[in-house]
Amino acid sequence: MVIFQYFPREFDEILLLVNEEGMSFLEAERTVLDVTHPEIGWWLAETWNLPTELIDGIAHHHQPAAAENHPEIAMLVHLSDILCKMFQMGSGGMN
Ligand SMILES: [Fe+2]
Repeated sequence: MVIFQYFPREFDEILLLVNEEGMSFLEAERTVLDVTHPEIGWWLAETWNLPTELIDGIAHHHQPAAAENHPEIAMLVHLSDILCKMFQMGSGGMN
């Protein structure tokens, strides 16, 4: 949502790379912005002083095993992404 809201031109470039080049969202975000949505979310969560459980969940939702302190929330978000994709509810940023 942050990328879509504040970087609409870059968001379109990311979608193009995902849909036309077959990149994952993470690869496309890194290519276009040199930062990924988990990293943006991590920064925002830290800036907003959210609890560490949420920061870990946001920062590591694509790699829950990397969450050092609270992997359970990252695992839940990751599982939610997988279920949404299975039921064709958006992409979950996992393309
Ligand atoms: Fe994601």
